[in-house]
Amino acid sequence: MLRLTAVLTCALCFASAPLSLLHANSKPNITKSTFGKTTDGQQADLYVLSNKKGMQVAITNFGATIVSVKVPDRNGKVADVVLGYDDVKDYESGKAYFGATVGRYANRIAHGEFTLNGATYTLAKNDGENHLHGGVRGFSKKMWTAKDVSTGNRPALKFTYVSEDGEEGYPGKLEASVTFTLTDKSELIIQYAAATDKATVINLTNHSYFNLAGQDSGDILSHHLTLYADKFTPVDATLIPTGELRNVKGTPFDFTRAEAIGTRINQSDQQLKFGKGYDHNWVLKKNKVGGLSPAAELYDAQSGRVVDVQTTEPGVQFYSGNFLDGTARGKAGKAYNYRTGLCLETQHFPDSPNHPHFPTTTLKPGERFRSTTIYAFSTK
Ligand code: GLA
Repeated sequence: MLRLTAVLTCALCFASAPLSLLHANSKPNITKSTFGKTTDGQQADLYVLSNKKGMQVAITNFGATIVSVKVPDRNGKVADVVLGYDDVKDYESGKAYFGATVGRYANRIAHGEFTLNGATYTLAKNDGENHLHGGVRGFSKKMWTAKDVSTGNRPALKFTYVSEDGEEGYPGKLEASVTFTLTDKSELIIQYAAATDKATVINLTNHSYFNLAGQDSGDILSHHLTLYADKFTPVDATLIPTGELRNVKGTPFDFTRAEAIGTRINQSDQQLKFGKGYDHNWVLKKNKVGGLSPAAELYDAQSGRVVDVQTTEPGVQFYSGNFLDGTARGKAGKAYNYRTGLCLETQHFPDSPNHPHFPTTTLKPGERFRSTTIYAFSTK
C-alpha cells in the first residue's frame, strides 16, 4: 500500500515519469505512470507489476486491460507476448478487445435477448443480429478504480467497477471486481468477484491476444495448442451455439494432444467456415465443478515460451484472431495482421441465458460470483 501511496504523491510532482525510475532504490514491484486521456478527458493510468524472474505485466484502469506481458524466452531474451496499444485513446476506439476485461456478459447472446424470472431483457445487437461482449460500451470500455492489494512479495492490483441497474440493458446494479496478482513463479492470477441487487446474468473474461514469439512477430499458426476438452459447442452461422455438446474426436477441434494451430485451420469444415477459423467454446474436463483445473497449454517452439491456463470456469473460447486484418495499428504503430494473435478466453458458454442445459450464468441477490483464471508462463 505504502509503495502505491508514495507513487501517487510523486505522480503529482513528476507528471508522467515512470515511478520505477524515481524509486530505483526501494525496488517497487508496482509502478504507475500516465496512459493518456480518454476523449471525455478522463485520466487513464498504467500500472506495471514485476517479479524477480524478469516478468512484467502492464495493466490500465481503462477496461481493467492487460496492456503488455513481458516474459523471457528460453535464452532469457524478453519479449512482449500480448497485442495492444500505446495509448488509452486507441483502446477507447478499438474494436478488438485487446487484453480487456470483458463483461457484463462476455461472448454472444442470441438476438440480444434473454428471459429471467419471467421478464424479457433486450440488449444491444452489436454483432450482426446478436449481442457481443457486454454491448456498445461494456466493461472493456469503462474506467475502473484501482487499488494496490499487494501482499508479501506478490504485487497485486484490484480494479472495481459498479455497473448500474439497466446499464446496456442488463438488470440489477452489479458491483464487480477483478484482481491481478503476479507471483514469482510467473503466474498471472486473475480473480473476478461480483454481487448484484437483482437477478442478472454474468460472464467475465480476459481478452488477451497472445503471440508467444512476440506481439510484432507474424502469425500464430505454428504455436502448439493443447485444450483439456473432449467436447466443444458447435455454432450456427452467426456463432451462436446450437445447444449440442459435440465430441472433438476425429474433427479439427481435437486439441486433446498438442497440435499446431495451422495444421487443420483451413480444412473444409462447416464449423471452421462459420468461425472463419477457430472461434469456438470448448467444454473443459473438470476435476471438480467450480474448482481450478487445466484449460489450455500454448507453446511456441521457436522461443520456447509456454503459457499454461488454469481456470474455475467450465469453458474456454479459443479465437484464432480471424478478424485481425491489419487495420488495427498496435504498439509502435505495428499493423496486426490476420491471425497474429490468439485468445484463450476462459468463460461460461456463449448464449447460456438461452440454453437452460448449459451451466448457469444467473447471479442472484445475496450470492457472490467468484471466478479465477491463472496464466502461468514458463519455457521449455
Ligand atoms: C471474441 C469473439 C470473436 C470476436 C472477438 C473480437 O473472441 O468470439 O468472434 O468478436 O471476440 O474481435
